[in-house]
Amino acid sequence: MKILLLGKNGQLGYEIERSATRVGMNCYSLDMPQFDITDRKSVQEAVGKEDYSLVINAAAYTAVDKAETESDLAFEVNCSGPAHLASSCSKKGVSLIHISTDFVFDGKNRMPYRETDPVCPLSVYGRSKAAGESEVRDRLEKHIILRTSWLYSTHGNNFVKTILRLARENEELRVVDDQFGCPTYAADLATLILRFANHVHDVLPSVWGTYHYCGKGVATWHTFAEKIMELARKRAVFKCKRVRAISTEQYPTLAARPAYSALDCSKIEGLFRIKRRSWEESLGEMLNGMVSP
Ligand SMILES: NC(=O)c1ccc[n+]([C@@H]2O[C@H](COP(=O)([O-])OP(=O)(O)OC[C@H]3O[C@@H](n4cnc5c(N)ncnc54)[C@H](OP(=O)(O)O)[C@@H]3O)[C@@H](O)[C@H]2O)c1
Repeated sequence: MKILLLGKNGQLGYEIERSATRVGMNCYSLDMPQFDITDRKSVQEAVGKEDYSLVINAAAYTAVDKAETESDLAFEVNCSGPAHLASSCSKKGVSLIHISTDFVFDGKNRMPYRETDPVCPLSVYGRSKAAGESEVRDRLEKHIILRTSWLYSTHGNNFVKTILRLARENEELRVVDDQFGCPTYAADLATLILRFANHVHDVLPSVWGTYHYCGKGVATWHTFAEKIMELARKRAVFKCKRVRAISTEQYPTLAARPAYSALDCSKIEGLFRIKRRSWEESLGEMLNGMVSP
């Protein structure tokens, strides 16, 4: 099976490429500047170049706050891009795994969101990703939309790396404690995506559709930061002595974020009979790969 991976330089794309290489999968990968998802021709050429059975789209505009002032670009990358991609896949008869986000929800739930819950994004980023999902659904039958949340990896920019950097420079960190979500190790998600890739053509046709996948357990950004520091201190010395809990009001950002965006993953767990790892266990593994004295 030949796979085309888009967004190979991002945190998730990097982990997918790494896992695919490890298991010997035939995966061709692209990213900017050789490939631009907003350019219909670039997309058509990429999808048409080889006889792919599957495209994985990890390319996206992910700067949540910047998107508030770069709305056109966010929509080009997160909505028009997936639209071009779904059309090209449909013409070539190729299936697509498209990655989306918990930020399509408004955060008013008090139970983990299911795939059937209505979307109601609070930010430009969330709206652009929700619009991208609709384009994929409307243009291509053989699609998987995989929503995930609070991604981190040893590669790229993310919350874990920001906390470690700040903890080396400051005695006290102030972190929001009233937004709840599920931290997800990009390497775990990459493993799941390749499992999907391997089985997507030999399970029932009803497999196409929307799924949720994230690390097991719910955290706030503050409890996440405290766990990062607890585990990291076992591996190295930091200047940081305290992680103080603050409210969203005390940390204003350009983009509004859902107060609660935990994802219910029972649909995908049932399909593959998988047991997700706790986010704490995965975090420990990630830190083993990057924190040293
Ligand atoms: N990060 C999170 O916490 C999070 C949470 C939930 C869901 N997600 C979703 O998960 C997926 C992967 O996220 P990630 O964190 O791995 O993102 P990322 O690290 O920002 O990677 C995205 C990749 O897409 C590339 N890209 C941007 N514009 C492009 C364009 N016009 N054409 C082709 N490639 C382009 C980026 O290149 P440049 O770096 O050069 O721009 C980057 O390599 C995305 O769909 C995202 O919405 C992420």
